[in-house]
Amino acid sequence: MSLSTRLAAADTLYQMVEHGRSLNDLIPANLEKLDIDQHPFYQQLVYGATRYYFALDEIASLLLEKPIKEKERLVHMLLLVGVYQLWKLEVADHAALNETVQAAVDSKKQWAKPLLNATLRRFQREKEQITADLRRRDSFPGWLNKRLRKAYPDHWQDICQQSNQLGPMTLRVNQRHHTRDAWLALADEQGLECQATEYSPVGIHLAAPAPVFALPGFEQGQISVQDEAAQMCATLLNVQDGEKVLDACAAPGGKTGHLLESANIDLIALDVDERRLTRVEENLSRIGLAATLTACDAGDLAQWWNGEAFDAVLLDAPCSGTGVIRRHPDIKLLRKSADITALAKVQKNLLEKLWSTVKPGGRLLYATCSILPDENSDQVVQFLANHADAELLALNLKTDVACEAGVQWLPRSEGHDGFYFALLHKKATEQ
Ligand SMILES: C[S@@+](CC[C@H](N)C(=O)[O-])C[C@H]1O[C@@H](n2cnc3c(N)ncnc32)[C@H](O)[C@@H]1O
Repeated sequence: MSLSTRLAAADTLYQMVEHGRSLNDLIPANLEKLDIDQHPFYQQLVYGATRYYFALDEIASLLLEKPIKEKERLVHMLLLVGVYQLWKLEVADHAALNETVQAAVDSKKQWAKPLLNATLRRFQREKEQITADLRRRDSFPGWLNKRLRKAYPDHWQDICQQSNQLGPMTLRVNQRHHTRDAWLALADEQGLECQATEYSPVGIHLAAPAPVFALPGFEQGQISVQDEAAQMCATLLNVQDGEKVLDACAAPGGKTGHLLESANIDLIALDVDERRLTRVEENLSRIGLAATLTACDAGDLAQWWNGEAFDAVLLDAPCSGTGVIRRHPDIKLLRKSADITALAKVQKNLLEKLWSTVKPGGRLLYATCSILPDENSDQVVQFLANHADAELLALNLKTDVACEAGVQWLPRSEGHDGFYFALLHKKATEQ
């Protein structure tokens, strides 16, 4: 008998919540254990129950007379998976109920059968009242909700709502092969519905997600999957033929590929994570372009820098990922408030160290997929105050929120992820 989809989903939630493992790590291993026709439903359950975890957990506490014992957390997760189906999915109620209860039996938790039956049936009957005034309706952790309210008093509710929507599948056309219009024409011939992105000159939003191998030219590296905001990094850095460029935090290599597609440059790509750096290699090999790859701490210049300064540096800094929660909902569960302070320290150090590798007259793009000011504008304001040779260049990008330095994008349901950009120019002579 194949593994129950619902049980696999509950186990994934359990591993994530109790052992802090990411969905990127858990999902591929579980897919291997499931029949191929179960894959879409498993992913729908896992992503959805993660997205609404905090609200589902609140519902479970309203339904249960007493909490399920700590050692039986898997059953608690099954309950959340059951509630999620009844609340948010179009699955027939009887299938959601029976199959979730059966999953408990399959996992040798016979004792949980009456409990799951009773609580899920009660939710089915009282769904409207129970969900009407949930405290955690937006399903964000308290610490993040508090930070968002403080940073965006007029936008935090919209941010939470947008972060709970699926983002579009967005592609980047490799301009070495096609213009965007030429690829759109190819897509049209194949009946793929898509449209040009608003900001990135090489971006395309698909009307509906498609398997990558169904995209014309994917295997030949003519097209890559990349959010529009991420595409803006190479666009804003605007590298030119012959320039010496650094991509300091490169893995898995989305922006490395885009930089190489943009011009004939001499590119060094670094990442501290050796395993992730192999993904850069794979990605570059698909598009048929090359960079010098080194696994090292970019902030430890002695480890990798020969002293030759760069025309352009991309610092796509490690960050909280709070701008991409719609694509990685586990961020809501895995990140903690203390991480923000720790990440801000790492970002500050990288910015400080990498600035010395920029040529006078050169530029550095500081970018993150975070929407928290501590990681973004606060960093850049502080940096500018301490570096007389740095000036901020204006970026011609529309945005919903004012920001003291740089441009902060918030996630937009039909458009780009949440992202931050600050383009710093190094004055030719120090003052
Ligand atoms: C936001 S991700 C980069 C995404 C990448 N630029 C892309 O477009 O695919 C941040 C990366 O920074 C790397 N990183 C973290 N600390 C680093 C350090 N001190 N030096 C170099 N890389 C670092 C992480 O391993 C992670 O791969």
